[in-house]
Amino acid sequence: MEKLVIKDLCAEVEGNQILKGVNLTINKGETLALLGPNGHGKSTLLAVLMGNPRYKVTSGSIEYDGKDLLSLKVDERSKAGLFLAFQNPAEIPGVVSADFFKGAINAHRDNKIKLFEFYKKLEDTCKEVNLPFDMVNRNLNDGFSGGEKKRNEILQLLLLNPDIAMLDEIDSGLDVDAINIVSKCINAQKESKNTGFLIISHYARLFELVKPDRAAVMINGRIVEEGDASLISKIDNEGYEWIEKELGILIKKEETNKPMNKVSIGVCATKEVIKDVK
Ligand SMILES: Nc1ncnc2c1ncn2[C@@H]1O[C@H](COP(=O)(O)OP(=O)(O)OP(=O)(O)O)[C@@H](O)[C@H]1O
Ligand SMILES: [Mg+2]
Repeated sequence: MEKLVIKDLCAEVEGNQILKGVNLTINKGETLALLGPNGHGKSTLLAVLMGNPRYKVTSGSIEYDGKDLLSLKVDERSKAGLFLAFQNPAEIPGVVSADFFKGAINAHRDNKIKLFEFYKKLEDTCKEVNLPFDMVNRNLNDGFSGGEKKRNEILQLLLLNPDIAMLDEIDSGLDVDAINIVSKCINAQKESKNTGFLIISHYARLFELVKPDRAAVMINGRIVEEGDASLISKIDNEGYEWIEKELGILIKKEETNKPMNKVSIGVCATKEVIKDVK
């Protein structure tokens, strides 16, 4: 059964068109691997699916459980069962992790969770992701190492128990043992709760441990290729050049020599630069 259906989705950020007609479907309980070169719109797609207001959908549709996802606000999408683990989780000084988790859990329930039940659940889940329990007393992600931040994202996933979890490079920054732990958590969640996953990664290792049902490749803001897991090993061995040749697509390279209209130097100065750089 189809759970998430994305049709001809176009979206822009800061006036730049990033998604240029994305078509993608995720079925209930399915794990989909999303690959693609740097800067081609993968994280943008997840931000748009989650409802980040910085990203403007210019055309197309997203149906979730047969309903129009675009008409829902970000918290409503979360309550409907969507979850996003960030590529770069934000540090939030002043917000204690445990309070944040309790608030998030309560926002998904009609009755507030009992304090004892919450702490028991939190302690058990910390063990699952191998984070020391006392970390929940620290401010959210504040000063956490790269690997701790990623395991903290998985901790939230397990606490919130979503229908579809979108994981953006969850494996980056994880050591070998931590990748094994995170993969075990993902597999257990799939097995016990039938959670569907949309997983972005640049590395085949994660996909050897979390075996996706299908894989899709995003290039230039579009899904240009879909297939089974063998697509992942092909890309791991051969890169993306074969796609240019086989599909006749020109992969947009990052423009490093483009003259800029505006240069911001921190927050203390903004300098207009001559537009016609000779
Ligand atoms: N808030 C923003 N403001 C300006 N440009 C943005 C913003 N968010 C994304 N972009 C641009 O959109 C393009 C796509 O970015 P995105 O993060 O979606 O790429 P990606 O495929 O996830 O890359 P990576 O594999 O490196 O994570 C990039 O050129 C990026 O600089
Ligand atoms: Mg990204």
